Amino acid sequence: MQFQEQVSALAIAYNEIPNNYLIDPIVEQREYLSDGAMIQWAGPTHDVYSPIHVKTNDGVHPFKIGSYPICTEKEALIALDAARAAYNDGRGEWPTMSISNRIKCVENFIKAMLTKKDLVVNLIMWEIGKTHADSVKEFDRTVEYIYLTIDALKDIDRNSSKFTIEQGIAAQIRRSPLGVVLCMGPFNYPLNETFTTLIPAIIMGNTLLFKPPKHGTLLHYPLLEAFKNCFPKGVVNTIYGRGNAIVPPLMKTGKIDVLTLIGSSKVANDLKKLHPKVNRLRAILGLDAKNAAIVTKNANIQLAAKEIMLGALSFNGQRCTAIKIVFAHHSIVDELNNLLIKAFKELQFGLPWEKNVTITALPEPNKPAYLNDLVNDAKKHGANILNEHGGFAEGSFFHPTLLYPVNKQMRVYHEEQFGPIVPVVAYEDIEEPIHYVIESTHGQQVSIFSNNPDEISLLIDPLVNQVSRVNINSQCQRGPDAFPFTGRKDSAEGTLSVVDALRSFSIRTLVAVKLTDENKTIINEIISADNSNFLSTKYIF
Ligand code: G3H
Repeated sequence: MQFQEQVSALAIAYNEIPNNYLIDPIVEQREYLSDGAMIQWAGPTHDVYSPIHVKTNDGVHPFKIGSYPICTEKEALIALDAARAAYNDGRGEWPTMSISNRIKCVENFIKAMLTKKDLVVNLIMWEIGKTHADSVKEFDRTVEYIYLTIDALKDIDRNSSKFTIEQGIAAQIRRSPLGVVLCMGPFNYPLNETFTTLIPAIIMGNTLLFKPPKHGTLLHYPLLEAFKNCFPKGVVNTIYGRGNAIVPPLMKTGKIDVLTLIGSSKVANDLKKLHPKVNRLRAILGLDAKNAAIVTKNANIQLAAKEIMLGALSFNGQRCTAIKIVFAHHSIVDELNNLLIKAFKELQFGLPWEKNVTITALPEPNKPAYLNDLVNDAKKHGANILNEHGGFAEGSFFHPTLLYPVNKQMRVYHEEQFGPIVPVVAYEDIEEPIHYVIESTHGQQVSIFSNNPDEISLLIDPLVNQVSRVNINSQCQRGPDAFPFTGRKDSAEGTLSVVDALRSFSIRTLVAVKLTDENKTIINEIISADNSNFLSTKYIF
């Protein structure tokens, strides 16, 4: 059967969709959270269509799953004022609250979040086409991340609940919040990656403006009530609307202290430049990447093929950590390609709730056309499509495509495809992939496939100075979440991990005192009266 026919066969009538995967009723959001209240919205709204197509009497169409407010600069600036008021120059209830009380608020939030799991998971699936199994994983990983964050903060706090004495001066050294954080997450992990910045930001005492991703907006709506109920007024504020209309005015005010964004380096750079005092702005960014896999002649080719499939095609290649180009030694490239062709044949595409499905519809409407351009450009410069149905697009589906031989004249050699294309380059000399990594504008991760320890060590040393994680005989990935996640060049700014994120959204601050008898008495009195949340030796268990 042709790919087009296979995709057409996937179109499903609404009444054939299993009940537990339905969004019923659809989510018509007419309110948003700002300044501690759900604000009703009577203005224009944006209809959200799923990349999943559903059969109706007049044909097969993207399915409408809801709508959300298109607010304006005015509402965004009101939300900013609310966040600033809640921070109150560091004097607000939230930034001065004890860590243990902030942790209680976050624990209450987790409880409330868990009650919304089924709806949030289904919305992830319908909004971005992620498989149901992976949407569940995204939700669970996020909850786990929040618990780990709480544990990490307790550890940090325990280590800070003592005094350090040097040269006759005693100091209590803790971490303090930075101010108002503007948080924007990506569409591919709309819940998880948003929350891996949002939660550390608030738990450290900052207040927040949060703009949900363009694709992956509605899934945050069921959680707004929990944010409202679990945190003091103005700590979490949402902004809805067109990013280019509401975000630049916020940056221009100079009242954003931290910009955290998982997205493109271009957007991040443009936004940073709008801030009138760039030196005051802290940026925690996860940006573009073009991770390479290097398969040497000494590799276990079966293992390399398996990891490349996972690394390049999980969630249709829409991961910042995906393997986006493969360099294979010319002596083993045919063997590797043959294994990949076989694995491509076994890929199952379909509806996201179907068992064992890995390839699903793409949420960005222009993506199939863009991927098609990349493939045509590669063909023009001498690449062949090695796999059956490769290069075919139908509706929101793009068939995974194996391209070989790829060379530097091709766009796909340089551009981050963020989709299911696997470009393979044959190399003679190991200097070629090393130079690719050096010349790349990205610097996130690399995967080396080899069973020769000498060869691996010769590659590790130059590569660790180019990227932020070198994976040996495995795909690139962010996890485990305890590991530092960052990148060089245009790939990131700041480091995220359970512990690093807490550091990123705070600054070391100390209270220092010369150890005179008088001062010793004062400090002891402050501590025993328990009047300061900062100067305190209380221990959180
Ligand atoms: O899109 C980028 C994500 O951080 C990738 O995370 O490697 O766990 O899929 P992952």
